[in-house]
Amino acid sequence: MKKRMISGIKPTGQLTLGNYIGALKPFVQSQQDYDLSVFIANLHCVTMPIDPQELETNLKDALAFYLAAGLNPETTDIFLQTDVHEIAQLGFIMNCLTPMGELNRMTQYKDKKDTGMSLSGGFYTYPTLMASDILIHQADFVPVGEDQKQHVELTRDLAERFNNRFGETFKIPEPVIPKVGSKIMSLQDPSKKMSKSDKEGDKGVIYLKEDIKSIRKKIMSAVTDSENKVQYQPETQPGVANLLTIYASLKEITVKQAEEHFAQSRYGDFKKEVANVVCDEIEKIQNKYDEVIESDFLSKVLEDGANKVRPQAQETLRLVQEKMGMDWKR
Ligand code: AMP
Ligand code: TRP
Repeated sequence: MKKRMISGIKPTGQLTLGNYIGALKPFVQSQQDYDLSVFIANLHCVTMPIDPQELETNLKDALAFYLAAGLNPETTDIFLQTDVHEIAQLGFIMNCLTPMGELNRMTQYKDKKDTGMSLSGGFYTYPTLMASDILIHQADFVPVGEDQKQHVELTRDLAERFNNRFGETFKIPEPVIPKVGSKIMSLQDPSKKMSKSDKEGDKGVIYLKEDIKSIRKKIMSAVTDSENKVQYQPETQPGVANLLTIYASLKEITVKQAEEHFAQSRYGDFKKEVANVVCDEIEKIQNKYDEVIESDFLSKVLEDGANKVRPQAQETLRLVQEKMGMDWKR
């Protein structure tokens, strides 16, 4: 039997090339080898304030881009987090089993806490809801970008602790980090992750919905350095290293092979070739996106997906409540 893999995406902004390389593309590559479920984490989206209309667009877009990138709803269960009610319920139970000290150690929380921003209880307990997302499906593997690894480690700890205290209940999931491209950096500040939360119009971020000409322009004006030698040196040449990573991920080759390919190239030619590869790939995705975005197909995919994953979610929640002595009446 195929191993089970689950991952979610939190579309709080327009999807970027970073999301594509770090998440969407690896999902598509995984669907042959794994029993894959992918969901849209709309609960996680409201852990920080977000405009309702913007959220709606982003949720719909995320689904359309998943499909456009090649996820096949016949074989992959694609669903909306809130359509499976058991997730939030198990999330609450996970909160109750997690010491606050562990949540205080989560880097995502620590980073925001120091900004002086007002943070919600939902933001604080983001990791326990994520643990529920994963554990409720009894998943074996969780493909995530580097930034999400800590949350998967917490998930493993919670599962192990639960099993020790209440008896074997959860499968212990493992994070899977893509070898190439787990962290695509900003084209303008390659010390920073390319992130959809950056301001729109930022020249460092490429959006999947963006005009192809504008994408080309951004790559051509990506920050490099004065070495004028295309080599993978993330410390001293982070801009060039980032472009090499993008190229290698899209061409499905290693960074070393990409480095060899460009060994004799000047920066201008190097960037042109990277831009061609990025633009070709995004253009293909955009064409497919246009086909699905206005159809009823999207709601049908979500309905079928939720129906397929719900029985397992119900079974896990039932087991948890039984083991914890919460459901005496059965
Ligand atoms: P987020 O956009 O933070 O909701 O992330 C959704 C998925 O895309 C997660 O698996 C992230 O780790 C991945 N991801 C987001 N930004 C990047 C990036 N710049 N490089 C690689 N992966 C990313
Ligand atoms: N927290 C993830 C992110 O920001 C999204 C997410 C929510 C997720 N639940 C998940 C990813 C469960 C993997 C598994 O990208």
